Amino acid sequence: MTPATSSLLVRAARREEVERTPVWFMRQAGRSLPEYRALREGVPMLESCRTPELVTEITLQPVRRHGVDAAIFFSDIVVPLMAVGLDLDIVAGVGPVVAEPVRARADLDRLPELTAEQVPDIAESVRRVVAELGQTPLIGFAGAPFTLASYLVEGGPSKNHERTKALMHGDPELWHALCERLAQISLTFLRVQADHGASAVQLFDSWAGHLSRADYERYVAPHSRHVLAGMAQSHPDVPRIHFGVGTGELLVPMAEAGADVIGVDYRVSLADAVSRTGGRYAVQGNLDPALLFAPWPALERRVREIVEEGRRAPGHIFNLGHGVLPTTDPEVLTRVVELVHDASAR
Ligand code: CP3
Repeated sequence: MTPATSSLLVRAARREEVERTPVWFMRQAGRSLPEYRALREGVPMLESCRTPELVTEITLQPVRRHGVDAAIFFSDIVVPLMAVGLDLDIVAGVGPVVAEPVRARADLDRLPELTAEQVPDIAESVRRVVAELGQTPLIGFAGAPFTLASYLVEGGPSKNHERTKALMHGDPELWHALCERLAQISLTFLRVQADHGASAVQLFDSWAGHLSRADYERYVAPHSRHVLAGMAQSHPDVPRIHFGVGTGELLVPMAEAGADVIGVDYRVSLADAVSRTGGRYAVQGNLDPALLFAPWPALERRVREIVEEGRRAPGHIFNLGHGVLPTTDPEVLTRVVELVHDASAR
């Protein structure tokens, strides 16, 4: 057993006793850090994701600076789609843009299955990061089938996901075929990261909160379950975190899709998340990222409240309700880490 597997994060995810609450931040590696902006100067996002030296350095930056209890692998949910040959780009300030959207049966031919051999650089980056991290665990991640499908069908970021929902309801057979393929790709991407030393994984279904519970259960949950169950089978010791934004109404089906930890955004209290999921799952969250811009006393009060609420959960990993905003003052993040450590010490 490597030391990272008995880390605070892994133990909290397993609902074991911890001496203090582990904390990390979604998008902790990124534009809020001047050292990140310096490294990324002139390097396109997707190129940086496939360069092990850069991935290693960028993944480690927030661990060194903030003293967070976990690193998140620096990559993107569209990296495995690029690896199978899809023509796409990440446009700064916009997000992933797909050259030819996937909307018909024939388009699926452009989306073959992913094999580990197509991402040797990911394996190499994970190995390097894990070697440098020592006792600090690495969280691997992938996009969930629905969120990936939304980018592919819409061709880019979308407010209303109208083409995605039209496909889901108008051609369920094609929809399920697309999601089965995406589930295979996500599962392989997670397995590569776990095979090379990631101690936990997070499945990002960032946009699932746009769905009704009935649609989530019918059109999405079976595919996310395939990913999470596949990880449970191949890597039973690697805890699974399942996260989405605005998913208060979906916490139960998202937990039951095979998570150990359910991500909670700031719209739902941790106490409500625990009671809705019957106290059977650890929770991760849920500071509003915008509160990092509030005066310190107001921020401190809210952080302390979240720590207290988290004590009543079967396991708690402190995080934001969504990613760090690019204009966040990184010194505030460091201060929040210190406060969580201090306030949660048993
Ligand atoms: O620190 C971390 O969280 C690790 C790295 C990470 C990135 N993307 C790096 C990134 C992770 C976990 C992701 C996942 C991701 N990518 C998600 C799910 C998480 C979420 O935010 O809900 C989604 C929806 C994407 C798609 C995507 N990629 C978006 C919406 C954007 C932002 C576009 C922009 O410029 O505002 C990206 C680009 C991206 N991915 C950046 C980073 C650091 C910014 C690019 C840059 O710094 O130039």
